This record gives sequence, structure tokens and C-alpha cells, in this order.
Amino acid sequence: HMKLAVLVSGSGSNLQSIIDHVEAGHINAEIAVVFSNKEDAYGLTRASSHGIPTAVIRHTEYSDREQFDAAMVQVLKDHGADTIALAGFMRMLTPVFLNAFPMRVINIHPALLPSFPGTHGQRDAADFGVRLAGCTVHFVDEKMDHGPVIIQAATPVAPGVDGDTLAGQILRLEHRIYPQALAWLADGRISLDGRHVHIAGAEEPVCDTD
Ligand code: GAR
Repeated sequence: HMKLAVLVSGSGSNLQSIIDHVEAGHINAEIAVVFSNKEDAYGLTRASSHGIPTAVIRHTEYSDREQFDAAMVQVLKDHGADTIALAGFMRMLTPVFLNAFPMRVINIHPALLPSFPGTHGQRDAADFGVRLAGCTVHFVDEKMDHGPVIIQAATPVAPGVDGDTLAGQILRLEHRIYPQALAWLADGRISLDGRHVHIAGAEEPVCDTD
């Protein structure tokens, strides 16, 4: 079955939801390793407390992205990973990384892409005054928050809501759709036609709402 590496830079609440769904048997996968570029990422503690191996490489020790990516590929392959889930991993990936796991790197972003890419998707959406916000699970390519969309979820936005409140609202949706996307990937149900993702026999909606 799928051997998953989850990459985190911070709290790892999405990692936690993935762990919980794997343990419940909802995702036909094993988490081979949890990796971080930051040794104090709380996600590493979550992994350890579930008996999942962890690895850390500090990006600051590498002079360029390609060398850092090559080091990550080595560590992840050493752990047997064949699929990569970015879960609050705040580094761009180069072809050195992406070509090592073709069509097997996915990300979650806390906005309805292509709106509000970047590091503050929720705050940017709140500041813009949108009426609907949400999150997106997508394949990763070289551009930030850009690759083919697998699933999105949307939530209404109360007038004048602040970015932090909206982020919490979106995070609850993230914890639903990321495990769903990984379950599809693990079951080999996802195929690509250009930018268009097909889910074989999807009885579940590929658009989720509150
Ligand atoms: C999540 O909201 C995730 O969507 C976001 O970082 C947060 C990580 O939270 N990712 C991005 O903004 C990527 N551009 P977590 O560590 O609790 O899962």
C-alpha cells in the first residue's frame, strides 16, 4: 500500500487528521515518515507520540534549493516513501524534488485557488471581503499553490470576520478534505487529463461545503 511522507513546518493539525484517518483504516496507507525543515515543529511531536519515524533537515544549512531538495529526497526515499503530502510545509519545491516523485506530491492550501495563493491565504481572503472562503488540495508543481485541483471545500464568510477566525473555520474543512484526497490517491482512483483531475467512481462530492 501507499507509503506516505508528511512534510510539516509547524503545528501539524492536518498531519494529526491524516494520522487519525490512517489509524481508523480510512486511508489505505502507512505513514513512513514525518519530515520537517524545522526541528521545533510541533508536528514532529505528534508523529513521535504515534510511533511514526521523524526526520529533520534544516533548509538554512543548504546554499540553494536544489541541494536542500536532493537531501530531502534521499531521506524520504531511505524511509521508503512513495507519496508526499505537504501539510503546512512552507518551502517551495524544485524539479529536483518533484521529478523524484512524479504525480505523487500533493499540498493543501487554505484558500479557494487560484484566489489567494501564498502564506496568508485566510487573512488575504478576509481582508478582501469575500463571501465564500475555503481550501484546496492539489498536485504540486513548480509554481506556488498552482497545480491541478483534486478537491475543494467552501464555507460562508461572516461580514467583518477577522483572519484568525476564518482560518479556524477553514482548518475544520482542511481536516475533512485532505484525508479524503489521500484516500482516493491510496486507492489509485485519481487520474489526470492536463489540469483536470478525475476521481474514478467518486460517489463522494469533490466539492464539500459547511
Ligand atoms: C494550514 O492551514 C495549511 O493549509 C497552510 O498552513 C496551515 C498549517 O496548519 N498551508 C499553506 O498556507 C500553504 N501555502 P497545520 O500545521 O496545523 O496543519
